[in-house]
Amino acid sequence: MTRRKTRAVGEAVTEQPPAKVRLMRARDVQQVLGIEQVISATPWPRHMLLSELGRPGTIDLVTVEGAAEIVGYVLASRYADVWHILNVATRPDRRRRGIARRMLEDLFDRAASKPHLGYTLEVRVSNGGAIRLYKDLGFAEHGIRPGYYSDNGEDAVIMWRSGAPDDMHGISG
Ligand SMILES: CC(C)(COP(=O)(O)OP(=O)(O)OC[C@H]1O[C@@H](n2cnc3c(N)ncnc32)[C@H](O)[C@@H]1OP(=O)(O)O)[C@@H](O)C(=O)NCCC(=O)NCCS
Repeated sequence: MTRRKTRAVGEAVTEQPPAKVRLMRARDVQQVLGIEQVISATPWPRHMLLSELGRPGTIDLVTVEGAAEIVGYVLASRYADVWHILNVATRPDRRRRGIARRMLEDLFDRAASKPHLGYTLEVRVSNGGAIRLYKDLGFAEHGIRPGYYSDNGEDAVIMWRSGAPDDMHGISG
């Protein structure tokens, strides 16, 4: 991401460091919960997020602007040979700048250090933007979980992406 120059009225131009993707830390939890409260009908509770962070076999990432301003996050857990992507979010005022794409690509890079079958996730059938993002990244639709979402009974699309770089279209085509 390129450096952004910002200027308040009467102030000199200041250089802001570019956003970076790094592992989530316990001290990030407050900001992540704040974004969850704004964007999710079923926000993750603090205890779930903390227990996720403390578990081995997870890759939990944040995108940070400046010193410590969190603008996106991805939570992923490995069960047996498959990575489950549990949450992907970008702060509403930072969307459509490639933040979610970059975090997911970073996740794929980190996960590649150990052999695995691939990645799976659930997404609301109505969430066309997210479904497009996942398809762009090599996920394919692999079925429906009827009534998966507790807030409104919406169905989930199950998506799958192979872990093998030469098989971007899933386990069974
Ligand atoms: C879905 C979400 C994570 C995308 O984050 P983002 O940082 O804006 O995504 P990116 O900028 O990396 O998007 C990359 C591509 O995905 C697709 N995409 C992302 N959001 C889209 C939208 N709202 N409409 C259409 N396409 C979209 C586009 O192809 C986009 O590329 P483009 O901007 O060059 O057209 C974000 O909208 C969000 O936090 N939504 C609420 C939480 C959520 O729904 N998470 C997914 C749960 S499974």
